[in-house]
Amino acid sequence: MVMLQGEVPQDARRFQVDFQCGCSQHPRPDIAFHFNPRFHTTKPHVICNSLHGGHWQAETRWPRLALQRGASFLILFLFGNEDVKVSVNGKHFLHFRYRLPLSRVDTLGISGDVSVRAAAFLNSSPFMEGGSEYPAGHEPPCSRVLPRGLWPGQTITVRGLVLPEPKDFTLSLRDGAAHVPVTLRASFTDRTLAWISPWGRKQLILAPFLFYPQRFFEVLLLCQDDGLKLALNGQGVGATSLGRQVLERLRELRVSGSVQLYCVHC
Ligand code: GAL
Repeated sequence: MVMLQGEVPQDARRFQVDFQCGCSQHPRPDIAFHFNPRFHTTKPHVICNSLHGGHWQAETRWPRLALQRGASFLILFLFGNEDVKVSVNGKHFLHFRYRLPLSRVDTLGISGDVSVRAAAFLNSSPFMEGGSEYPAGHEPPCSRVLPRGLWPGQTITVRGLVLPEPKDFTLSLRDGAAHVPVTLRASFTDRTLAWISPWGRKQLILAPFLFYPQRFFEVLLLCQDDGLKLALNGQGVGATSLGRQVLERLRELRVSGSVQLYCVHC
């Protein structure tokens, strides 16, 4: 699933989101799915198509476009086995049957009159059984069992959207005796990110604060022999030390705070 958040400028004529097979400019790459909102006609609509060998195929036209000039939007592209479903601002809008193999798509192209706030790739969602429904964002608290603790090489992924007036966001790891050897906390009041020890000692993470209201984020924890490595939105930002035995004894991940969760994966 791909999520796109942004705003349509007041004077927008058109923009396009292309799921394309390559990124060269000349020759133009094939486009498996071209999603093209057009605003310059009296009835704004979306054109969907594929580009194959430099030639556009048969267009499909979708009226009653929920996107508006001057307004922000959230678009979800949900790629199924045979077609892609698109929802705009929480409502299903269209589906498009593939004409080119999806396996060829490796590039997301966004161009035209649009300002993009965030693009997110949500490729695993525990909330999405069967994969045919749009996953809804879930309000925390959320808990995941770690039946065998954490082992070197294992990763924890948390993806979500920060709420409009956030206070904090907390990710904690507990053992079977309800001890909390490590907590990661983002505080929006002082815009700091820190590891919190079981005794409440705060170790600040000296990295840019990458959480913003109404924006997506991705937290990745990678378990190593001697602790956890942290990446935020794809950038490594530090690590915390924890003994191997402490890691093996962890039994639960808890996530809480001012976010909507789209993926919590251990
Ligand atoms: C053409 C337009 C292209 C693309 C295509 C889709 O008329 O120039 O940019 O939108 O339609 O069918």
